[in-house]
Amino acid sequence: VQQDEDFRPNFHFTPQKNWMNDPNGMFYLNGIYHLYFQYYPDDNVWGPMHWGHATSKDMITWEEQEIALYPDEKGYIFSGSAVVDKNNTSGFGEDGKTPVVAIYTYHDAKAAEEGKDHQTQAIAYSLDEGMTWTKYEGNPVISNPGLTDFRDPKVTWDDVHKQWLMGLATTGETFFYSSQDLKNWEKLSEFGENTGAHDGVWECPDIFQMQVEGSDETKWVLIQNLNPGGYNGGSGTQYFVGDFDGKTFTPEKNMEALGEKHDFWIDFGRDNYAGVTWSNIPDDDGRKLFIGWMSNWMYAEKVPTETWRSAMTVARELKLIKEDDRYLVTSLPVEELKKYRGPGIAKNNIEVNNNKVVLNSSEVDLAKAEIRFSIPDLKETAYNFRLSNEAGEEFIVSYDHAQKEFVVDRSHSGQTNFSENFATERSTAPRISAGNELEVILIIDKTSIEMFFDNGKTVMTEIFFPNQPWTEFSFTTANQSFTVKDFEAFELNFPAR
Ligand code: FRU
Repeated sequence: VQQDEDFRPNFHFTPQKNWMNDPNGMFYLNGIYHLYFQYYPDDNVWGPMHWGHATSKDMITWEEQEIALYPDEKGYIFSGSAVVDKNNTSGFGEDGKTPVVAIYTYHDAKAAEEGKDHQTQAIAYSLDEGMTWTKYEGNPVISNPGLTDFRDPKVTWDDVHKQWLMGLATTGETFFYSSQDLKNWEKLSEFGENTGAHDGVWECPDIFQMQVEGSDETKWVLIQNLNPGGYNGGSGTQYFVGDFDGKTFTPEKNMEALGEKHDFWIDFGRDNYAGVTWSNIPDDDGRKLFIGWMSNWMYAEKVPTETWRSAMTVARELKLIKEDDRYLVTSLPVEELKKYRGPGIAKNNIEVNNNKVVLNSSEVDLAKAEIRFSIPDLKETAYNFRLSNEAGEEFIVSYDHAQKEFVVDRSHSGQTNFSENFATERSTAPRISAGNELEVILIIDKTSIEMFFDNGKTVMTEIFFPNQPWTEFSFTTANQSFTVKDFEAFELNFPAR
């Protein structure tokens, strides 16, 4: 029976030991991608938060570094961001060294217990490219205006309006702030009271400009995580597209009054939360790069691992597209993942009647695999694909073209009873594309599957804990036979941990 280290992902980032949640402070500098994360080094459940740290040359293979920020008398170090202050606007630079500035939330646990305001925003800087940090003596830089939830500052350089721009999560709203020096902040506006999912607390926002694919048009995207109240309950990442005039974010008409179950989620699955984007990606690269925490507050502290708890998603590239007069943010795994492909298997025109095993783990190890295929000529029926093992456990995904809906069932995927919220209900996602051919990319690790449908228009990320490794990947159909086109599977090969 698989347990603990058997469940450690082959390639998704996990800390060597103990508890991790949100990704924080991601920036790129001199060939290195930095990832910090909410970290509790002393236990495998949430506790006084630190910023852990990992680095990578390609966002796929990560090396864990020393803890970057420790809690202190002002509080725990909650989520936030980091920017490379090339022009030394903060004045933290010394001897020509470029400061990297982290902006985070202090969470004063004692004040919280006493029912007092307890979250403020603070900064720290690094003069050695993110390896060691000095907290600013003038902290906090934004004090609490009397709000219980007041956190997760995400700062970006707004090159259009020449300002540092901060998105900050408050109870059911995003606040925007601006600064010239990262120390003095002025409140600009509030957004969100009347639109979007609100069945929980808004957390971890991100605001940035994007160019619409295939055009010169630019728009602003606001990512706004919330918990609970995600598309399938618990934690989720919604987004809004609109304009930003340097002060106020105005959503597109069709996004002015979204309800709880709208169509605009970075990921509809249960296990992608608190994701935000990297800062300081060079112009000649220009990608919007995103990573999320691959878990859900509904059960994150109970998943059946001991040594560590939880992993990050694969890094993803976001794109903004315009289709049928609406703007959509799509995501796909970063290109860098392809260089880990080992020899592949390709099969064309697979006929599926009933049940067809198309791949087994002696051909491609299903604990580190990329599978791609498409299903043309969609009919009003359900198309199922499935991971299974010799213990009779299975993880089933089905696309119901009559309902235009994806349904994931992990209720028989192995260890599920650690939390009633893990397996009891199925998770679903709307099909966003109207196309008549379904394109699928699956990225599979020991305990996770990331499903990218229709070039990343509908994405679902889900975790599982099978008692034995998956041995087969198959297609099934209830009534109609169908054909699978361009089936390709690759084993992904990573250096040993
Ligand atoms: C989101 C979150 C943030 C907070 C952090 C605390 O998962 O609740 O709002 O800063 O986690 O660890």
